[in-house]
Amino acid sequence: MKSTLKYTAKAAKKDLEEALNGMDSYLRFLAESGCRGFNCSTESLQKIEAWGHKNSPCAETLEDVRMDLGDCRRCKLSEGRKNIVFGAGDPNARLVFVGEGPGYEEDQRGEPFVGAAGRLLTKIIEAMNYTREQVYICNILKCRPPDNRNPMPDEIKACSPFLRRQISSIKPDFICALGTFAAQTLLETSVPISKLKGRFHEYMGIKVLPTFHPAYLLRNPGKKRDVWEDMQKLMKALGH
Ligand code: URA
Repeated sequence: MKSTLKYTAKAAKKDLEEALNGMDSYLRFLAESGCRGFNCSTESLQKIEAWGHKNSPCAETLEDVRMDLGDCRRCKLSEGRKNIVFGAGDPNARLVFVGEGPGYEEDQRGEPFVGAAGRLLTKIIEAMNYTREQVYICNILKCRPPDNRNPMPDEIKACSPFLRRQISSIKPDFICALGTFAAQTLLETSVPISKLKGRFHEYMGIKVLPTFHPAYLLRNPGKKRDVWEDMQKLMKALGH
């Protein structure tokens, strides 16, 4: 028993030395990187505490994200676009719709989902007893791919940090992923939409319900019933 205690004290001393050495090298690293001290004021600690909380004055706003996006030239889609389609709706929405990318009309107007597919999406939103202004609508890509071709990996890579930041700023309770492309990109999977739809998944800790894209519904009106069933699941989860 005695020898065990002695050993434990020795081990504790060793651990402490290791911790102090680690802290020493970390502080040296910070000093070499230009750090000149820490602000431990109450105000500073309160700011850190507030990070990530909804409506925190320190959280990044959608305007901050939009400003950082600027006149984006991060990928080749910037060459052919007329307007960046950032997103529209309530910056505190509980529900965010994510589509694929702007089409012709969206590119012309700088607004998401304002063409034929958009008019159908508006009807779906209104059938859920919301208005477009009460939800947030955006896309995986903010610039129109030429001839509405599928987005390319480098374009998604350049654009997705901005979608992440939009979602972090809004902090919705639910995301509705519209169509194959949005669902597969958000969920990082190649599982077909028919298998993903109608069930809740997760993106950044937020519940994601994939469903068919409204453009697909325009070509396959028989699938509207499926989408309505998915929307009813969403409404129930939202407490309606
Ligand atoms: N299709 C999309 O995926 N997004 C739009 O904004 C318009 C059409």
